[in-house]
Amino acid sequence: MGILDVIFVRGKHVCPWWLCRSFDNPLRRLFQDPERILRPHVKPGFTVIDVGPGMGYFTIPLLRLVGSGGKVVALDIQRRMLEALRQRADRTGVSGNLVTHLGKPGDPDMPDSADFVLIFWMIHEVPDQRAFLADLKACLRPGGRMLIVEPRLHVSTAKFRSTLDAAERVGLTLVARPEISLSQAALFLKD
Ligand SMILES: C[S@@+](CC[C@H](N)C(=O)[O-])C[C@H]1O[C@@H](n2cnc3c(N)ncnc32)[C@H](O)[C@@H]1O
Repeated sequence: MGILDVIFVRGKHVCPWWLCRSFDNPLRRLFQDPERILRPHVKPGFTVIDVGPGMGYFTIPLLRLVGSGGKVVALDIQRRMLEALRQRADRTGVSGNLVTHLGKPGDPDMPDSADFVLIFWMIHEVPDQRAFLADLKACLRPGGRMLIVEPRLHVSTAKFRSTLDAAERVGLTLVARPEISLSQAALFLKD
């Protein structure tokens, strides 16, 4: 591990709850406006899976975008994250269509016809990305889309390329490379 790996916390780890808390702050909104990033991909009535939601920086705006006829499934492996997210959604008054799921994308009660999957700043924490993406692809309907976004400093271009290769190997089609601040991003389609 080199000095840049230490500075940018590039080792293999799952983001602890206390660090994720800092991901939701007014400063981040200045360069990553959740509505602006998500609106092109999410319509009212959609079923969306927010993978690794942390404290819900994107989940709460997603709940607003899908509206009362839609649903957001927040999938995480840390119970504490999902509990904090549920409390925030309750306080904001948007928890009616929130489903929290502690587990894996391959679990039998995950959706099998979601319209959109968001994987924001989390897939570098997953050891077997190919298996993970295959399970998430199975959660999408044909025509559904998956947005993968990784932090630019924390994840090298080569590592992100290998994530994109894994997505293509499971049969997803790369359709766009959206510009998102401080990030590298790719939009995939399930044919
Ligand atoms: C750095 S946080 C990102 C939070 C959020 N997406 C954001 O952009 O603010 C990463 C999240 O991914 C979750 N996570 C890590 N590995 C996971 C896995 N295999 N399945 C689901 N969630 C996972 C962590 O518990 C944490 O909530």
